[in-house]
Amino acid sequence: MSALQKMMGWIDDRFPLTATYKAHLSEYYAPKNFNFWYFFGSLALLVLVIQIVTGIFLTMNYKPDAELAFTSVEYIMRDVDWGWLIRYMHSTGASMFFVVVYLHMFRGLMYGSYRKPRELIWIFGVLIYLALMAEAFLGYLLPWGQMSFWGAQVIVNLFAAVPFIGEDLSIWIRGDYVISDATLNRFFAFHVIALPLVLIALVAVHLVALHEVGSNNPDGVEIKKHKDPVTHIPLDGIPFHPYYTVKDIVGVIVFLMVFSAILFFAPEMGGYFLEAANFVPADPLKTPEHIAPLWYFTPFYAILRAVPPLFGSQFPGVVAMGLSIVLMFFLPWLDRSKVKSIRYRGPIYKIMLALFIVSFIGLGYLGLLPSTPVATIFAQVFSVIYFLFFLLMPWYTSIDKTKPEPERVTG
Ligand code: HEM
Repeated sequence: MSALQKMMGWIDDRFPLTATYKAHLSEYYAPKNFNFWYFFGSLALLVLVIQIVTGIFLTMNYKPDAELAFTSVEYIMRDVDWGWLIRYMHSTGASMFFVVVYLHMFRGLMYGSYRKPRELIWIFGVLIYLALMAEAFLGYLLPWGQMSFWGAQVIVNLFAAVPFIGEDLSIWIRGDYVISDATLNRFFAFHVIALPLVLIALVAVHLVALHEVGSNNPDGVEIKKHKDPVTHIPLDGIPFHPYYTVKDIVGVIVFLMVFSAILFFAPEMGGYFLEAANFVPADPLKTPEHIAPLWYFTPFYAILRAVPPLFGSQFPGVVAMGLSIVLMFFLPWLDRSKVKSIRYRGPIYKIMLALFIVSFIGLGYLGLLPSTPVATIFAQVFSVIYFLFFLLMPWYTSIDKTKPEPERVTG
């Protein structure tokens, strides 16, 4: 027995290292027909790690103080060795996180990955999405630029629209009557420790639930239904390691090429990843001409603005915005189709999904623009389609003419 085998034996007697490696990698059987849509889960993990590591280095020079925050970020950009790279990796990384997560969620919609028995994977996913939005919102206040300040002012003020408790609620969140140093300090605490812990914990349970039931695949058929009678290994499964670890490296390399291209040539993406107004220090006495959130929030911002106020209160819009996300939790129970994957669904689901995506992107575009009467009408139409996708789902998925699902994956 080699020294290495002896050492592994010593560890295995005290900690299930080999057993865990086998259960989750070398003897974890995943469907053999994954396509490129299955890259985005591992890419989301990669971006999470990038955000945490760059975040730690940013924290070494950042000052969570209303007097110092803006200049400390400029100091990172100009004077700290490689500071510009770390800062841009973090700010561009935030947008890339949403790109990856939106594609990951779209994959779920295409292949019915949220359906039984993967409801909890999906629910943990929606919780991750919520935590990610909170994390991004809190982080955007930290550079203490004009958009940090006024964006936070607008969003925290939405809580004031809640009947009866709204005013107190918004003061409680800010720790002051306006966004101030107290707000910056608490947002910093939540951004650098509380929410990252929540995110890591949620990602962990997301993966535990995934490994409990196994991955879905582009055919939407359960590979566990057909196992080898002797070995009990799914006939359409292949070990995650080395097959998918190697495949995921391809995804990682392509992603890093795209990420680097953006990072080095257009880190602010013409104002879509970092807004111009945020390079001006926060001024509580001067509202910027046009306040818009970053692109990943704009679909929801457009829904908020599409709903007219009631008796001067923005509350109906806030409810619609909240509902647009809450509905996602119910997706596993709204879908009544006999099949999971879009490959075997009928035309109605395909049309509804296409309309939903067009509406989501349309809302995202409109949320970037100042509101005009015409834009509001478009936003209202898109919002209605967005909600109908969910609310009519039990009906259109049950009448849709599906194709028969194959018994085994098709390659
Ligand atoms: C930090 C964010 C996230 C990370 C790190 C993450 C990680 C992963 C990984 C590694 C997988 C397995 C590989 C794959 O299927 O691509 C996976 C699967 C899955 N994720 Fe996520 N995820 C995240 C966010 C989300 C969100 C926001 C949702 C939905 C709202 C979601 C829903 C799912 C579903 C349904 C599956 C199973 C897919 C299938 O088997 O077809 N995830 N996730």
